[in-house]
Amino acid sequence: MSLQEYTEKLYKMNPLHIIWIGVIFAELLTLLVSTGASYIFWGHVSHEILVIGAVDSLIVGSIVSIFIYYFVRKIHVAFVANQKLLQEIKERKKVEEENEALYEQLQQAQKLESLGVLAGGIAHDFNNLLSAILANVSTAQMSLKFDDPVARILIDANKATLQATKLTKQLLTFAKGGAPILHSTSIIGVLTDASDFTLHGSNVKPEFSIPDDLWPVDIDSGQINQVFQNLLINANQAMPDGGAINIEAKNENVTGNGILGISSGKYVKITIADQGSGIAHENIEKIFDPFFSTKAEGSGLGLATSYSIVKKHKGAITVDSKQGQGTTFQIYLPSSKQEIQAEKPVSYDLYYGNGKILIMDDEKAIRTSLARMLKKTGYEAEVSSDGQDALKMYKEALERQQPYDAVILDLTVPGGLGGLETLERLQKISPDVKAIVSSGYANSPALANYKEFGFSGAVIKPYGIQDLSRILYEVLNQ
Ligand SMILES: Nc1ncnc2c1ncn2[C@@H]1O[C@H](COP(=O)(O)OP(=O)(O)OP(=O)(O)O)[C@@H](O)[C@H]1O
Ligand SMILES: [Mg+2]
Repeated sequence: MSLQEYTEKLYKMNPLHIIWIGVIFAELLTLLVSTGASYIFWGHVSHEILVIGAVDSLIVGSIVSIFIYYFVRKIHVAFVANQKLLQEIKERKKVEEENEALYEQLQQAQKLESLGVLAGGIAHDFNNLLSAILANVSTAQMSLKFDDPVARILIDANKATLQATKLTKQLLTFAKGGAPILHSTSIIGVLTDASDFTLHGSNVKPEFSIPDDLWPVDIDSGQINQVFQNLLINANQAMPDGGAINIEAKNENVTGNGILGISSGKYVKITIADQGSGIAHENIEKIFDPFFSTKAEGSGLGLATSYSIVKKHKGAITVDSKQGQGTTFQIYLPSSKQEIQAEKPVSYDLYYGNGKILIMDDEKAIRTSLARMLKKTGYEAEVSSDGQDALKMYKEALERQQPYDAVILDLTVPGGLGGLETLERLQKISPDVKAIVSSGYANSPALANYKEFGFSGAVIKPYGIQDLSRILYEVLNQ
């Protein structure tokens, strides 16, 4: 029994009982002392001594018992107060800790948001510069004979610019995290690319097991590559002493599966299994939460991003792990009904045409290079720097009965009328206006589903003369 429980018991006792215990205790003590003393001094115990001892013990006993009673009460009250105080301190500490965690999360989210804004801003400006570079390089290239040594140099410059474009696209995806642009693709190349990239130079080796007749899937390869990279990085980090990661892909017919949260149908199931440290039972529920990390340097965003990407693909992601034995992630991606679309090779063909084209872009360098590209491929080009300007020019041309055959509209014009609003107003003037949307935000819905927004074509910045001439040719000959 603890001291606290003991005092509690005593406290709950009837005070009279405590007094009685005190009396008996003190009486016995006084009697013992008085009889002992009389025996030591007189050699015998007299009758008087016994009577005095008894009376004395009654008085002393009462005082002692009252003293004991109040003593017990004091200790108890102190204990109760102490307990309350302790509880209060504990609760206050908990609230403080929760506040601190919330504050940290908020700070992290704000940091990420401003990082996103920064990345988006840089990527946007950088993309515009790349657009001007690519437009001019490709136009210069087309002005030379194919076997001209300078043309070869320009082809290399062109390739390097396209690589730089990939970088800006990644930045823009990070900043916007937008809707996936789906293409029918084989998952094999995406898996091997991600594994080559993440496990290069590591003591962890991938072991593939993929059948030849794997169905194609409808994916945004850039985003799905990011998912595989996140999973492989985690697996690699879980095996600091090296080992193997089993990467498996197979066709799977999912029927009425409520657990996975996906509709029944044909899926490609990708399994990534490591033999690493595994995940503690109590953490399994939290690993897909943003900012959950058990790593000193982890941001806890890898799995959260992967989860949201897979969900946007109408797929599912599951995990199974045993601590000390390893972790297995499974990803379900809807199979595609279409044939695999080969990535468009860089085209060196030019499509010539004729007609009057109105360009709207807020960047002077882009307007100029665009006009140059159009003139090179046989068109007449006029430029405007925002929507208002473009509308005015379009109306005037109509009145002069020299209408434009097509317009190329920049999607975002800071502080001015952007591509979407301009198109809406143009359609009021001439409902079957042929408009091409031009933007660096490859994931923006207006670009991904340009037809739904009323555009006849879309060009993703940066683009060269070949792509532009092809799309313009297609739009004008639809
Ligand atoms: N293969 C794995 N083996 C062991 N633990 C894992 C594995 N994958 C995920 N985890 C656990 O899940 C947590 C969250 O993973 P997540 O990838 O979201 O963030 P992170 O890796 O900590 O940080 P980062 O943002 O750099 O990816 C990890 O901190 C780790 O505890
Ligand atoms: Mg991670």
